[in-house]
Amino acid sequence: MQLVGAIAELRRQVAQWRREGERIALVPTMGNLHAGHLQLVAEARARAERVLASIFVNPLQFSDAGGGDFDRYPRTLAEDRDRLREAGVDLLFTPPVETIYPDGLERTTRVEVPGLSEILCGEYRPGHFVGVATIVAKLFNLAQPDIALFGEKDYQQLLVIRRLARDLCFPVEVVGVPTVREPSGLALSSRNQYLDAEQRARAAGLYRALCRARERLQAGEADLSAIEMEADETLRAAGFRPEYFSVRRAGDLLPPQADDHELVILAAAWLGEARLIDNLRLTTRPGTS
Ligand code: PAJ
Repeated sequence: MQLVGAIAELRRQVAQWRREGERIALVPTMGNLHAGHLQLVAEARARAERVLASIFVNPLQFSDAGGGDFDRYPRTLAEDRDRLREAGVDLLFTPPVETIYPDGLERTTRVEVPGLSEILCGEYRPGHFVGVATIVAKLFNLAQPDIALFGEKDYQQLLVIRRLARDLCFPVEVVGVPTVREPSGLALSSRNQYLDAEQRARAAGLYRALCRARERLQAGEADLSAIEMEADETLRAAGFRPEYFSVRRAGDLLPPQADDHELVILAAAWLGEARLIDNLRLTTRPGTS
């Protein structure tokens, strides 16, 4: 596995692969890797000849860059490197912040995906999806991948990236990979390590609340706000501090109409120091919602 931090070196390798007609898959991450990230790599290997992974804790997507969440974000580069090498990654791109934002964060060109970016997580994390869209657009330009893989765990992020790829005409196929979970149902996340043992035992309550809401929808319950309110109460009773719990259309995250059957239930909730997000997709039978 090649380790690359400089843009010129990355471009040289990508150009050579492209000359040789090899299909390139990109797996962007912020490191502190777990089995969810490795699932993206496995899927990438199955679909392309070359796998390019990146580790970059992107300050532009943290609302408090320079403090708080950005500073305490876990950085475990040595372990991450070993895991990616074992997983069969060909090239790991780990640029310094100055390489990506040479004129600083304030002056950098930004990519904005309006509509999708201000709702749900975007309402609670202003500027977050501009940061995500900007770094992903840069990585698409640098890596020129044929496909790029993202987790469905960050469902809103996946839709933002699909939209930016389409709107900016990147010739890339954006592939969503199903969420990898612990046996309890808890979605794997770098932020789970902010949970203490007791909170960790309770954390799967978020997944259970999503499952319960899905059952009610599949049973034909049409009162979405009743479903959302029940989940909110259940989560509060279990010690969570929910930000939102919401049933939306799977395609564009707008509130569903009676004839929408492709749905997604999305939730974000704090448990202690950890902000957890999760979602479940479902199809309701025509005539039942
Ligand atoms: P990060 O949180 O490191 O996640 C990297 C990728 O792994 C994302 O596509 C995310 O959806 C996926 N992922 C995380 N947990 C997962 C799980 N349990 N199952 C399946 N996939 C999972 O998301 C980011 O980084 C950043 O916003 C990034 C896209 C790299 C831009 O900076």
